[in-house]
Amino acid sequence: MWKLSLKVKENLLIRTGLIVIGNRAGLEADLGRNLFGQHIASDVIVKALTGFMNNGNPKKPLVLSFHGTTGTGKNLASQLIVKNIFEKGMDSPFVHFFNSVINFPYASQVETYKSQLQHWIRGNVTNCAHSMFIFDEMDAMHPVIIDGIKPFMEHQYKLDGVSYQKAIFIFLGNAGGEIITQTTLVSWKAGKKREELKLEDVETALSSSVFNYYGESNVVDFFIPFLPLERQHIVQCIMVEMVAMGLQPDHNKACEMADKIVVYIPDDERRISVSGCKRVASRVRHFMQ
Ligand SMILES: Nc1ncnc2c1ncn2[C@@H]1O[C@H](COP(=O)(O)OP(=O)(O)OP(=O)(O)O)[C@@H](O)[C@H]1O
Ligand SMILES: [Mg+2]
Repeated sequence: MWKLSLKVKENLLIRTGLIVIGNRAGLEADLGRNLFGQHIASDVIVKALTGFMNNGNPKKPLVLSFHGTTGTGKNLASQLIVKNIFEKGMDSPFVHFFNSVINFPYASQVETYKSQLQHWIRGNVTNCAHSMFIFDEMDAMHPVIIDGIKPFMEHQYKLDGVSYQKAIFIFLGNAGGEIITQTTLVSWKAGKKREELKLEDVETALSSSVFNYYGESNVVDFFIPFLPLERQHIVQCIMVEMVAMGLQPDHNKACEMADKIVVYIPDDERRISVSGCKRVASRVRHFMQ
């Protein structure tokens, strides 16, 4: 079990059912069941969160950075994490989701966004030390805003009596995605199984994306690669959608559809879906009509 060391106020929050003390097995099973083809990401996520949640006195907030091409499950993974920590999931008042494109659209306004965000983080962590902040579309995040939130993620940061050590920050973006894809293809061509790919194999790709977002600071604890999805995973996503539509999942039909509704690369081998499982759901619905 994740044992959080809780102060009185946080105990109260737990009693009112707003925070769930999750457990490792729950998250592991949830990722295993619902996040297809991401053995590296699942493994790192479980280890990172378990280590953090079991640590009664973390030295800094937990900072995770998700990298991968479109439709590989970055948002899905963040939702599964949230669901296993907060009873109300994404609706929890302690989970704060930002999308750079939607929330910080104008370059001319970055200073305002920055100070509003700093204020928001400070206020919410004061209210609940275990607050979680998720930033989507990091590729579109202005460096000024990133610089503005970095101090919250550093070691032993305390400002105006507020400590941020128990907060969790998750960043989602596409940086590094192309290199992760190339690495996956090279490994496949060398005859290796997908499951044999290790974090170390894609770390170089990730270290270049580090630079893109975070400059030279080292606030990020774990860079988490999301591998490009293969046809077998698209088939799984189609089956999920069949169930969601109230239909009997039909593997043969799903295989047939996986060839029709998704574009695969490289041209000759047709190994990897260019858009992962993105828009698979709506295409399945369209196809089934
Ligand atoms: N690995 C996966 N396993 C199961 N479903 C997936 C996976 N990847 C994507 N999906 C499904 O595809 C859709 C898009 O996924 P998601 O939003 O998580 O992608 P993303 O990696 O955040 O993409 P983007 O970079 O475009 O934001 C969702 O419906 C999601 O459930
Ligand atoms: Mg996304």
